[in-house]
Amino acid sequence: MREEELVKSALEARERAYTPYSHFKVGAALLTAEGEVIQGCNIENASFSVTNCAERTAFFNGVSQGKTDFEAIAIVGGTEDAKELGLCAPCGVCRQVMKEFCRDDFSVILGKRSAKGEISWEKYLLKELLPMGFGPENL
Ligand code: THU
Repeated sequence: MREEELVKSALEARERAYTPYSHFKVGAALLTAEGEVIQGCNIENASFSVTNCAERTAFFNGVSQGKTDFEAIAIVGGTEDAKELGLCAPCGVCRQVMKEFCRDDFSVILGKRSAKGEISWEKYLLKELLPMGFGPENL
């Protein structure tokens, strides 16, 4: 699966974000080792702290389907009326969820969209985004 397809899938997932409070919409597309793509969007709640980020929605969606081997995730985010989308890096809680299920060389693809609709991305490894993290191997 090419990075571009994964970013496009994240953009599609972003359309379903439920964001009546922040109006900040995030989409994620999680690639499994078998080549399947699991989408997720952020889902907010009137009790704000209950909100679930797009990345965690994708992971929990996948794990609840019995999938636990993941290769990469694409993430896109920005305010709901924005034509142009800049980089949206995953929050610390989502990085910790990645640490639970992914190897250090798991790819985090941060998608961007220009005002003209052109798609690009930057690629990071989980070990760069969460150095010296605490994971299952530490227990
Ligand atoms: N959000 C995500 O979905 N992923 C992130 O990594 C950062 C933040 C969501 C949570 C909330 O619905 C909105 O963006 C504003 O924080």
